[in-house]
Amino acid sequence: MTRDLGRAEFPALVPRDGRPAPVYLDSACMSLVPAPVLAAMEEYYRDFPGCAGRSLHRFAEEVGRRYEAAREGFARFLGRSDARGVVFVRNATEAINLVAQGLAYRPGDRVLVTDREHNSNLIVWQRLAAERGIRLATLALPDDGSFDGDALDAELARGVRVVSFFHTSNLDGRTLPIREITERAHDRGALVMFDGCQAAPHRPVDLDRWGVDFYAVSAHKMLGPTGTGVLAAAPGPLADLRPLLVGGETVEWSTLTEHALRPPPHRFEAGLQNYAGVIGAHAGVRFLERIGLDAVEARQRALNERVTRALADAPRVHLLGPAAARDRSSIFAFALDGIDPHDAAVFLDEGYDVMVRSGMHCAHSFYARRGLPGNVRASFYFYNDRRDADTFVRGVEELLERLPAGALSGTSAASPAPAPRAGRGPRRAAGSTGAAARSAPLRRRAGPGRAGFAGGSG
Ligand SMILES: Cc1ncc(COP(=O)(O)O)c(C=O)c1O
Repeated sequence: MTRDLGRAEFPALVPRDGRPAPVYLDSACMSLVPAPVLAAMEEYYRDFPGCAGRSLHRFAEEVGRRYEAAREGFARFLGRSDARGVVFVRNATEAINLVAQGLAYRPGDRVLVTDREHNSNLIVWQRLAAERGIRLATLALPDDGSFDGDALDAELARGVRVVSFFHTSNLDGRTLPIREITERAHDRGALVMFDGCQAAPHRPVDLDRWGVDFYAVSAHKMLGPTGTGVLAAAPGPLADLRPLLVGGETVEWSTLTEHALRPPPHRFEAGLQNYAGVIGAHAGVRFLERIGLDAVEARQRALNERVTRALADAPRVHLLGPAAARDRSSIFAFALDGIDPHDAAVFLDEGYDVMVRSGMHCAHSFYARRGLPGNVRASFYFYNDRRDADTFVRGVEELLERLPAGALSGTSAASPAPAPRAGRGPRRAAGSTGAAARSAPLRRRAGPGRAGFAGGSG
């Protein structure tokens, strides 16, 4: 685990203001951005800041070329031979909405999701159930990370129009057998969509070979700038979708009363696009190709195994998901007896410069069913190293020592003030406005604003 893997190219990991390098363990929410991605975006604004597909001058020509090169780059990265299946969107949420809202339904069409989907692959289906007469069915997944093909077949036998599952879970890091699921679904005539948010950044994706119809990705989880994503579709199913937005760029021609849509993918990209973002996202993909997904996987697995060995069996630590780190991709999600997840996250940040995610990870349905207030999630990426893992482990161990089991958590008084330490002392005095607000108990944060923030993304 000694190879650098490009860590030095991430400006956010540089120590500053007299503090050590931050330990960023929230890449499942959003990955960090390397210098070549920043440079590619700056290059666009500096050297060819035009709009693609409209004007004929040289800025426009260059941006058009780079934009289509990005499409080719994402197609290659995701295993699509036909780049016309790649639609640029703002994020995976938009990609999923594009498909869900773009299909033509017959009343009573059933859509199957798992019982642990991100809200981005749940709420849109709930709305379609309420407004367009589809029926939403749920496949319960075993807690140990296994997948029951017979249970899927039983659902498919009842008639399913669309199977829409996560590929890798943002909750516990398990990865579903995408090829098997696709084959079983296709055998019964169902379309298949996968939410690839937590998979594509971490392992090779081969969509044509797997036969997947629709695949949604957020590029900002794979080194790209915020607000960039991709729907990677098979050409046939894509052509059947009704665009979510129409207007400039989506039509061949129009009269005052009629229009003719352009072929895919352009009919799905309405209005002036996020050229800088797409070009930056492409630089992110190229960076990943340079590092190699095998190296990415190996690094995050080694870190997850290291943390799992140190913490998974510790008293008061409750690991979420499969026991073996190799079955949890880059994710180590856990609850601590007697400690509010948000208190733990603030403690780790203030005392150890460790950034993790706390809350319900945008899957309220999962926690609500179990009566849980959420948990803590550390997520690794290839730019993390052994020191990051060890600092995180020390932080959790100190948290457990300083807050005895059974102590009331969730109040400023009960929240342990981080111990000052060489280079890793508390940034804010305990009880300062920011710390007090962020360590307030979850139940006091249950109002729409705060709960939305705490559980709203990632
Ligand atoms: C599994 C999963 N699906 C969907 C999303 C939504 O991604 P975005 O907010 O980028 O659309 C996320 C990330 O937050 C995720 O982890």
